[in-house]
Amino acid sequence: MILLGDALETLKTLESESVQTCVTSPPYWGLRDYGVHGQIGLEKTPEEYVEKLVEVFREVRRVLKDDGTLWLNLGDSYAGGQGRGSLKLSDKQSSNKGTHFQLGKSCKIPNGLKPKDLVGIPWRLAFALQQPYERVRIKDRIDRAWLAALIDGEGCITALECKSGHGSGNSYPPILQVRMCDPEPIIRCCEITGYGKGSPKQEPPSQGGQRGSYQWRIHSRKAADILAEIYPYLLVKRKQAVVAYNLQTVRDSYETKRGAKIPEDALAKQLLCREILQKLNARENVDLPSWMVEPRIAVEPGWYLRQDVIWHKPNPMPESVRDRCTKAHEYIFLLAKSERYFFDNEAIKEPATCGWRGSQFHTGKTGEHQLGRAQKVRQRIPNNTRNKRSVWTVSTKPFKGAHLATFPPDLIEPCILAGSRPGDLVLDPFAGAGTTGIVCKKHGRQFLGIEINPEYREMALKRIEDWNFKTQLELEIA
Ligand SMILES: C[S@@+](CC[C@H](N)C(=O)[O-])C[C@H]1O[C@@H](n2cnc3c(N)ncnc32)[C@H](O)[C@@H]1O
Repeated sequence: MILLGDALETLKTLESESVQTCVTSPPYWGLRDYGVHGQIGLEKTPEEYVEKLVEVFREVRRVLKDDGTLWLNLGDSYAGGQGRGSLKLSDKQSSNKGTHFQLGKSCKIPNGLKPKDLVGIPWRLAFALQQPYERVRIKDRIDRAWLAALIDGEGCITALECKSGHGSGNSYPPILQVRMCDPEPIIRCCEITGYGKGSPKQEPPSQGGQRGSYQWRIHSRKAADILAEIYPYLLVKRKQAVVAYNLQTVRDSYETKRGAKIPEDALAKQLLCREILQKLNARENVDLPSWMVEPRIAVEPGWYLRQDVIWHKPNPMPESVRDRCTKAHEYIFLLAKSERYFFDNEAIKEPATCGWRGSQFHTGKTGEHQLGRAQKVRQRIPNNTRNKRSVWTVSTKPFKGAHLATFPPDLIEPCILAGSRPGDLVLDPFAGAGTTGIVCKKHGRQFLGIEINPEYREMALKRIEDWNFKTQLELEIA
């Protein structure tokens, strides 16, 4: 199955822990225009590009089983143009020409880079994926500080009393609000948090003749999460933030089913929070109960970066450079959700190489003095295979369909064989022409793809459907 849509948004609709492995190749940075609104790869800076992909792969991480893995193929590019590297380069493998950053005439060299610098995109992304991930809505710290200052000056952190008509008793959600005569700050609150979007409604002037006002207001978990993000920058309303945050934590601790009674201790804590908030907002000094904790942003652990496989291309694109070597490799990163993960190394063992006078060597050194030991090892390994090495030599193969950036099926075969069992579900959130789907079909795995371009999706579906053992993969690709 291939779902049509943006990878991030579509991933959000998938069930958690439902996928065994993800094998994918996202659009490379600044390489080509796939001609679809919302596509990834055209970001102005490497930082923006990495940030977007980190978001996508956090969702991939959520949908992976705990012992799941991610195989991520990515190539690098050079900053600055030397005449080559318009957006429509011939194929994915052309990235080994050293695709130059040249996203249009207005494009500048990204900060911190000089013309001819290797951007280092694969490693930038790999390191970013390794980092713990803060689930924040306000990405920019300056925006968090700005909102904190606004709340300190013009905002209100309080709790409401919501009457419940379902026998579950009253509820006291924390509320975070800003009310102003000017719409601009209100619009900015909406923009930076993503909450309360749409033009803010103006409330009519009060009877006393005061000007009408605009309001931004969020409550419950949304309010608690935003308070956690701005808490380090608050000065005046720090205590209110602590109380409102803990109030929501208490509310989260019991089931809010219709008609279900709120536990007495939880209700007592809510009432206490509300009372303290009222006092603090009336500028009374109140000591906070010891059970209250400081607001904290939710942090997810980073990926385990387990391997940088080198995809060695024996047939790289020729380059006319004379001040560096011709580029003949890309990376495939193996990342895992947990410390221990499913990896079938037996499924991808490679033939043991022959050493001096045809002897077999299964460990590092070769040479006459190793002969005896190697013979013993051979007796223990009946099939004369060894653990797969981390340099994979796979020729690039141009794909004759309209899609221009396919990876060779041979390249990802080991990823699927080692990363999943027959029958397991394999994901590719940038499905393109469906190569991952074809290899899944070949090896009896289920496949779930996501692709933003409807034409590519159609092409991929057809390519997967048409594939069978008789029409070998090689026949499909010119
Ligand atoms: C490098 S290609 C993948 C090719 C694929 N590995 C294959 O062998 O056929 C990247 C694909 O990502 C798609 N894409 C770009 N932005 C996307 C997005 N935001 N969501 C989903 N797909 C996207 C592009 O249309 C393109 O088909």
